[in-house]
Amino acid sequence: MTGKKPWAGRFGEPTDAFVEAFTASVGFDRRLYKYDIAGSIAHAEMLAEVGVLKDKECESIVHGLREIEQEIDGGNFAWSTELEDVHMNIEARLTDRIGEVGKKLHTGRSRNDQVATDIRLYLRDAVDAIAQALLGLQQVLLDLAEKEHQVIMPGFTHLQTAQPVSFGHHMLAWFEMLQRDSGRFADCRKRINIMPLGSAALAGTTYPIDRHVTAAKLGFDAPAENSLDAVSDRDFAIEFLSAAATLAMHLSRFSEELILWSSAQFDFVDLGDAFCTGSSIMPQKKNPDVPELVRGKTGRVYGNLMALLTTMKAQPLAYNKDNQEDKEPLFDTVDTMLDCLRVYTDMMAVIQVKADNMQAAANRGYATATDLADYLVGKDIPFRDAHEVVGKVVAFCIEQQISLEQMLLEDLQGFCDKIDQDVYAVLSLQGSVNARNHLGGTAFEKVLSAVARARQRLQD
Ligand code: ARG
Repeated sequence: MTGKKPWAGRFGEPTDAFVEAFTASVGFDRRLYKYDIAGSIAHAEMLAEVGVLKDKECESIVHGLREIEQEIDGGNFAWSTELEDVHMNIEARLTDRIGEVGKKLHTGRSRNDQVATDIRLYLRDAVDAIAQALLGLQQVLLDLAEKEHQVIMPGFTHLQTAQPVSFGHHMLAWFEMLQRDSGRFADCRKRINIMPLGSAALAGTTYPIDRHVTAAKLGFDAPAENSLDAVSDRDFAIEFLSAAATLAMHLSRFSEELILWSSAQFDFVDLGDAFCTGSSIMPQKKNPDVPELVRGKTGRVYGNLMALLTTMKAQPLAYNKDNQEDKEPLFDTVDTMLDCLRVYTDMMAVIQVKADNMQAAANRGYATATDLADYLVGKDIPFRDAHEVVGKVVAFCIEQQISLEQMLLEDLQGFCDKIDQDVYAVLSLQGSVNARNHLGGTAFEKVLSAVARARQRLQD
């Protein structure tokens, strides 16, 4: 394959060897090859439709490109750093294979609109793959919420026991966060799916191109309106990275809980041996490496967002070589998110819930104190007074080392004479959970109906 630069005509000296390596992107952008070839085929076919290429020339180009795709698929393509990037590698190979007519492919386009198009096609697929993976994880969470909806755990604020909740309700909280993540990806997909091709280097082209034809062939919603904007901005990629950073933040919070819950101190869940590792020195250890690593990877995902924001911040219109730096953060983020979602889906499918331990923990923290206060309000005691009475009852329980439920009626009546036998119904964990029986509440039956609605929402 010839390593001759397309711009050799204007240059008197060859490129410095290190500069060649420094400026090349083929080491990482080769993964765009399928999109690059699809874009080139659509471009060539459009050129033939408007009469810029002869049908025979177009056929030969399309055939050559398909063969090159097979070469790359099969690992039989010799990538060359001298040819800088995926675009020039493929174009040079095309001319190798089909001769002079290969040189006509680049009529009416530039690598600037070519690369912008390739990234959008790549990212559109990536968003679809992430959406699928998110859906899989959401389904696992719904199954778990349904199966364990009667398990009661302490709900926390400030990581202190607050009020008892259904474990299913807790899982549904994660479902909702992922549902919004999914919405963010779907929303940024609309702005990804706009076609730069035809913008050429920056100002458009003198050939009578039909951009609607190319856009339709590539499945874009529309051609971009402004050529300068289309070749240069990467805000669609920033939006994607931002949606990914938010998803990573959610998975990191989730991980934090799983790490706590699998500790000997909480002992709420068992993550499954297949998802943990041991220690080389401490024989008793079973470490929650998977959630820890997912939490740790949040750093690189946030970093990738900051990297591209910063790459873009001082660029004048239109394309600048700075833009070449858009790819690695994108690729890394896509790979990282797909890996995290996959491992999470598999891990959550086999997680074991230790219902007795959760229930015992909820019993330890006076989790039904608010219910007692609400009970007193029902007996016509103002909430602020009720709050104070219950505070004293809790202090008494702490001193006696008993739970609220274990208090004798006469002792309770010592704090407030309006308390009756019926108080025990509200002091139980089950009574407390099921009293929150409204849309969005934690009552068992509401958790089940929320699961049913969530399944419906996933189909809409
Ligand atoms: N490898 C380049 C990139 O990723 C392709 C576009 C190069 N355009 C140029 N005018 N040098 O951005």
